[in-house]
Amino acid sequence: MSCCCPHSRSASRFFSFFAGRYRKRFEKKGFEPSQKQLMKGLEQAGYQGSKVLEIGSGVGHLHQTLLEQGARSAVGVDLAPKMIDEARHWAQDRSLADRTQYILGDFMEISDSLSDADVTVLDKVVCCYPDADGLVHGTLSKTNRVYALTYPRDRWYVRAIMGVMAGAMKIVRSDFRPYVHDPRMVEKWITGAGFSKQYQDHNLVWLSQVYVKT
Ligand SMILES: C[S@@+](CC[C@H](N)C(=O)[O-])C[C@H]1O[C@@H](n2cnc3c(N)ncnc32)[C@H](O)[C@@H]1O
Repeated sequence: MSCCCPHSRSASRFFSFFAGRYRKRFEKKGFEPSQKQLMKGLEQAGYQGSKVLEIGSGVGHLHQTLLEQGARSAVGVDLAPKMIDEARHWAQDRSLADRTQYILGDFMEISDSLSDADVTVLDKVVCCYPDADGLVHGTLSKTNRVYALTYPRDRWYVRAIMGVMAGAMKIVRSDFRPYVHDPRMVEKWITGAGFSKQYQDHNLVWLSQVYVKT
């Protein structure tokens, strides 16, 4: 059992509550700026014909777009049931059901049952998990070639925003907390596992990075 069960249960409820809104926002507005950056990095690293694993896959827009643009197949893992439901429905609507597989669960609890992938994506997920070290190392171990992630920059105002969110979570008695994990540590874990950084960009809050196995 992972260290983070109460957190994961609360995160599951929190993100299930917002799943419908996530899908509507993507349908209306498409990718956010940080996701456009991540897509640019993925294009540079190359994903044509690849097997994609997206952890914290939400409603599925990112890996489903990769599939529409040349990836072969995708597995989406998320601990929020409604995110998984939305992703399944959307895959069907986009005629991608036969190339997608969705798994409900905390990656740290189910990682042994997951196959390796060519490309692994964690878009705004590291910040939703207390054990970043375990999550990053666990997902790296599933990655054969490209590792792409978006996570918060370590800036005072980002910590302030996360602090306010954490306070709000406490008030509603949720165990879910957002985290600003030190980007220097995250980079060290990834490069220490034999990956080198091929792409980086950022906006005010988010850092987008794509690494390739050396
Ligand atoms: C901020 S949302 C981002 C969703 C999506 N990647 C996007 O950017 O639209 C984070 C997602 O990660 C999921 N998540 C967080 N920790 C996870 C874990 N350990 N295993 C699987 N999913 C996780 C949450 O349920 C949530 O859907």
